[in-house]
Amino acid sequence: MISKAVEVLRRGGLVAFPTETVYGLGANAEDELAVRRIFAIKGRPHTHPLIVHLPDHGFLDLWARDIPQLARVATAAFWPGPLTVVLRRSRRSIDLVTGGQDTVALRVPAHPLAAELLRAFRGGIAAPSANRFGRVSPTTAKHVENDLQSDVDLIIDGGPCPIGVESTILDLTGLPRILRPGGVTAEELETVLGVKVPVQQTSAVRVPGSLPLHYAPRAGVVIVDAEEIEERSNQLRRNGHKVAVIAQTGMSAGPGIPVFPMADLNEFARQLYGTFRRIDQEGYDMIVIQRPPNIGVGVAINDRLSRASGSTG
Ligand code: TXA
Ligand code: MG
Repeated sequence: MISKAVEVLRRGGLVAFPTETVYGLGANAEDELAVRRIFAIKGRPHTHPLIVHLPDHGFLDLWARDIPQLARVATAAFWPGPLTVVLRRSRRSIDLVTGGQDTVALRVPAHPLAAELLRAFRGGIAAPSANRFGRVSPTTAKHVENDLQSDVDLIIDGGPCPIGVESTILDLTGLPRILRPGGVTAEELETVLGVKVPVQQTSAVRVPGSLPLHYAPRAGVVIVDAEEIEERSNQLRRNGHKVAVIAQTGMSAGPGIPVFPMADLNEFARQLYGTFRRIDQEGYDMIVIQRPPNIGVGVAINDRLSRASGSTG
């Protein structure tokens, strides 16, 4: 499977592959025509740059220049893993990948199949999440298949993604700042870097993830605290909505309203996008979600939820 995938990439094809965060839609990052196909298939505007996935730390200096010490420290601590760093780009990064900016986003994923693919390919793989633009990211091979069908040349099935939300994007071209919260938390970064790492609210660079509604299911999303679940979901139901609830295990929402239970924060992250997809498929038009605590991966979940509910930006 991996050698087949490498062959597909070498001849300019597209391979969907699992990472520990979400599935990626990969192309040879140095092949302009192949990268062009990613944008076409996703329906993604060219102004939205891609992450280049690398086999290991050794490739960092090939793809970036003027690398600050903090980037060495961050990548030594969190690669392979769910951390993407934004650095000054080298000549190797093509305009199509960087959106014409002077920076490039780089990450070494930890998923064994992604790692195996990258090691066998021995180069950079440009890969956005393997969904159509504006839809939630895929966390199983089936999600990829449902979204992209035959537009992708090969799908590597690695089962469900263990983290379930996208990587943390850390801009290191100036003072460190998080452009998108994700699998690595701000506290973890601060501990390792020894400096404050704020989460950026608005950004001059194009980050589609920073658009409200980018991580949205079709159904409307309402975020509530535990004690409001029953009242809000019944009220929405009385107003003619078909309502589903996502809440911690043991919560109930009243007759006729299904509750998708989340045992803990990590499971919440792992299941979130799959649950959104299922709820859409089953025809619900309103989702009432219990607000997760804003700690650990909960920060990334809350970020995606508030975008899905349209309450940011
Ligand atoms: O976990 C992940 O990061 C997944 C897996 C497949 O690695 N990838 C992913 O890619 O989420 P995508 O394209 O859906 O989101 C990448 C984000 C976008 O919001 C993009 O704008 C931002 O990274 N990005 C890419 N290059 C950038 C740059 N040079 N400066 C700032 N943001 C950048
Ligand atoms: Mg995406």
